[in-house]
Amino acid sequence: MRRILIVALAALGLGEAAAQSLPSKGPDLHLGVTSCGGSTCHGAVQPVRGSQVLQNEYLIWQRQDKHAKAYAVLLEPRSQRIAKNLGLPDAHTAKACLDCHTDNVPAELRGRQFQLSDGVGCEGCHGGGQRWLGPHVAGVSSTAELQKLGLFPTEDPVARAGLCLSCHLGDETRFVTHRLMGAGHPRLSFELDTFTEIQPSHYVLDDDYRKRKTVASGVQTWAVGQAMAVGRTMAALADDNRRMAGVFPELTFYDCHACHHPMSSLRWQARESTGLAPGVIRFNDANLLMLRLLARRLVPEDGAALGGHLRTLHGAMSEGRGDAGAIAREIKAVADRLVQRFARHSFGPEDMRALLAALIAEGRQGQFADYGGAEQATMALASIAQALRRAGGATEAQYNELKAAIDQCYAATAKDEAYDPAVFARALEGVERAMPRS
Ligand code: HEC
Ligand code: HEC
Ligand code: HEC
Ligand code: HEC
Repeated sequence: MRRILIVALAALGLGEAAAQSLPSKGPDLHLGVTSCGGSTCHGAVQPVRGSQVLQNEYLIWQRQDKHAKAYAVLLEPRSQRIAKNLGLPDAHTAKACLDCHTDNVPAELRGRQFQLSDGVGCEGCHGGGQRWLGPHVAGVSSTAELQKLGLFPTEDPVARAGLCLSCHLGDETRFVTHRLMGAGHPRLSFELDTFTEIQPSHYVLDDDYRKRKTVASGVQTWAVGQAMAVGRTMAALADDNRRMAGVFPELTFYDCHACHHPMSSLRWQARESTGLAPGVIRFNDANLLMLRLLARRLVPEDGAALGGHLRTLHGAMSEGRGDAGAIAREIKAVADRLVQRFARHSFGPEDMRALLAALIAEGRQGQFADYGGAEQATMALASIAQALRRAGGATEAQYNELKAAIDQCYAATAKDEAYDPAVFARALEGVERAMPRS
């Protein structure tokens, strides 16, 4: 078997590669999944021994990865119902669906073997192959060189966050609005490190990989993902076209359960970070809560500033005090700065322990009274605990104990509609008891 990749000489520094245009917005022809999935390339039936990469990536994607089914889902009755409710002829021909459920590049950028029905295929994440496929197959170029030819830097956490969030949160061209949700689209939920872990892995971070590429730790991936998500959300809030939907604000920015819960279950409680009175809809500040906690640890003045901004934003979004667009732009500037800061920071076990403790402390103060915050906190705990184990900051036994406690947080957030803050608070107490003592 011929080796098809050679050793990358110098990987780009984290964050530097992120300026590259998204695969869906680049200038290159997309050649189609079959041009990657040949049996001597990435279409082997089993991992190929002695190869730098698995070579069975195609099979993993096709059999286990939901991205391969993303188009097929549009043919199902639930998608047909969404389309019908929205007055669209079909889901599988509507740009409003295809932009996220396929690699929907313009017709002139589709090669002969390109098929929309492949869903989110290899080039939807790795970039159109027009310029990089040749040198890649010939095995003459480093990763850095291929990236200059349009290979997308998926290993870089900043670039990866931009890529995944473009569909999992939306961007200026694609967005799951409350109208889409009202028509039946599921609520979107995303955390970069968790979703990286649960996407069936078609690569192995072994010694050979580490020689070729820089590997970001899970906690760094989490941190960058949070700052990027806040930046993206603030950009949307500062954009009048996306912030409003008719006379009402776009409701996806708010906590779904502020409106969607039975009137018989009285659940309102004050929350320090919002400063809001009862009976108003709340902006969903889950990512901002995570970012504030990260900033307090690494850039305390930004942490303090974000706390103030958070309350001002809530006041503007829910009670009409002040200009939400202007506040969003200020928060975006802080978040953008923090992205770069987190991309440069080397997170050690001390940071990880402090972040776990901060999450528990926030919970004690009742900051996770709303589902969105509890959901993000749970994914954060799991991501940081795993990073702590990998960094040698917890023994296997300590990690297992911690993980069992975090599983209770997962259980408490498994169903958004059944979320009970008291149950979550008890689960967090369990995490506190399981915290490894250094
Ligand atoms: C901004 C990107 C975006 C747009 C636009 C979008 N979707 Fe989705 N859709 C997603 C993501 C991401 C998921 C997966 C959510 C998850 O599991 O976290 C999803 C999930 C779904 C699911 C559930 C799939 C499953 O496996 O359970 C259906 C059905 C669906 N979308 C249909 C549609 C239809 C129909 C349209 C067009 C009217 C549409 N989507 C537009 C991003 C989008
Ligand atoms: C949803 C996004 C996504 C899709 C779709 C996707 N990949 Fe990946 N791929 C990644 C990420 C993220 C990584 C890990 C980071 C990295 O090594 O760049 C990765 C890594 C890889 C690697 C490992 C490279 C190495 O240096 O060891 C190969 C090879 C690869 N992908 C091939 C494929 C092929 C072939 C397909 C289609 C069958 C595909 N990928 C589909 C996101 C994706
Ligand atoms: C072009 C849009 C697009 C991009 C880019 C994208 N995704 Fe997705 N992703 C989707 C859609 C659509 C679905 C839902 C597919 C379905 O359920 O049929 C999905 C589903 C998933 C799921 C399964 C979720 C579940 O509920 O089981 C994971 C995990 C995931 N994506 C991770 C990622 C990661 C990590 C990245 C970035 C490396 C990424 N995605 C990039 C569109 C995208
Ligand atoms: C400001 C209050 C408010 C917020 C916040 C809100 N919604 Fe709604 N939602 C509504 C209203 C009003 C309707 C229309 C109800 C009707 O037609 O009977 C609706 C309808 C829906 C429906 C359709 C229900 C049906 O009966 O078919 C879904 C699904 C939905 N919303 C999901 C969400 C999700 C997910 C979120 C959070 C991302 C959210 N909503 C946030 C007020 C809200």
